[in-house]
Amino acid sequence: MKLETKVFGLEDVFCYSFINEKGEVFSATNLGARIVSWKVLDKNQRLIETVLGMDSATEYLEKDPYIGATIGRVAGRIANGHYTYDNQTVQLTQNEQGNTLHGGPHSFEEAVWEAEATVENGMGKIVFHLFSPAGENGFPGDLNVKVTYTISEDMTWQIDYEAKTNETTLFNPTNHVYFNLNGHYEQTIDNHLLYVNADRYVPLLANNLPIGKKQSVVGTAFDVRDEAGTRLEDVFSLTDEQVLAVGGYDHPFVLNQPSLKIPQASIKSLETGLTLSVYTDAASIVIFTLNLGDKTIMMREQEVKHHSGITFETQALPDAINQEDFGNIVLKPNDVFRSTTIYRWHEKNPH
Ligand code: GAL
Repeated sequence: MKLETKVFGLEDVFCYSFINEKGEVFSATNLGARIVSWKVLDKNQRLIETVLGMDSATEYLEKDPYIGATIGRVAGRIANGHYTYDNQTVQLTQNEQGNTLHGGPHSFEEAVWEAEATVENGMGKIVFHLFSPAGENGFPGDLNVKVTYTISEDMTWQIDYEAKTNETTLFNPTNHVYFNLNGHYEQTIDNHLLYVNADRYVPLLANNLPIGKKQSVVGTAFDVRDEAGTRLEDVFSLTDEQVLAVGGYDHPFVLNQPSLKIPQASIKSLETGLTLSVYTDAASIVIFTLNLGDKTIMMREQEVKHHSGITFETQALPDAINQEDFGNIVLKPNDVFRSTTIYRWHEKNPH
């Protein structure tokens, strides 16, 4: 494993690439503690770009700062940017239809993180640090965040989150990587086979906020529990109101048994055969299928369009602080937040 570091278009912003013996490459930048590129070999020995990404920091800021970024302090939407905890009422900065999305405006995804990249014992590692001061977007508490990416020789990507605060606050981070295992963005993820180990999901209200209830996937477009994988095209052609309302998935799946040992979700491209699985100790995965409608975004000289990518945002359920039974995202002084997510490649079906 070797490491190459390049400037990435803004002061103090770098792109770190880990290259294994086979020539596969994982790249990340300290703008948003973000994955930029992940190229792996398919069964025909072609190097395939598997994530959406761009070639400079400024492009991310201009086109879409969430792509591949670490999201915080709180992933997803907090209704009205408002919550009450322990008799304390907190009003956050709202940035989407009166709600607070992904930590509020100009949050972790736009920050220049401190970063240290190394190769030790054949493993690539980047340790990212961010200090988020009390009051940022209205959140109480000085927050120290550490995000570690570890890349092994077989191109497994592990993310470890750690955080500490000096005042009671909220913390529910995720990573906003979009996958497309076809090798080109114009071919959508509709030809991918999806599996998610979830008997329940959370339907959404018209403004994308969760309805506040976990519901059974049985008989819905969210039943993707077949280990052989369900073709996304078939899911999207169902007349499921929840899918029709947003043009795909933008929904939390409630994991049956979060674990770093068994795959919680997997996808396979029918074009390249590449198969990726997700392992996490988080309670849910929000799957967003880049429901752009008629909008397009140019990335790497290709047109990214409706369904050009799919996310696996591992996290506690969105709006947990305002809902019953959605999990605990409160972080207290003296507590250390820790969570891990792993993305791993497979030669064949991992089940
Ligand atoms: C997702 C969210 C989508 C959209 C996207 C950001 O996590 O659920 O509705 O806002 O982030 O482009």
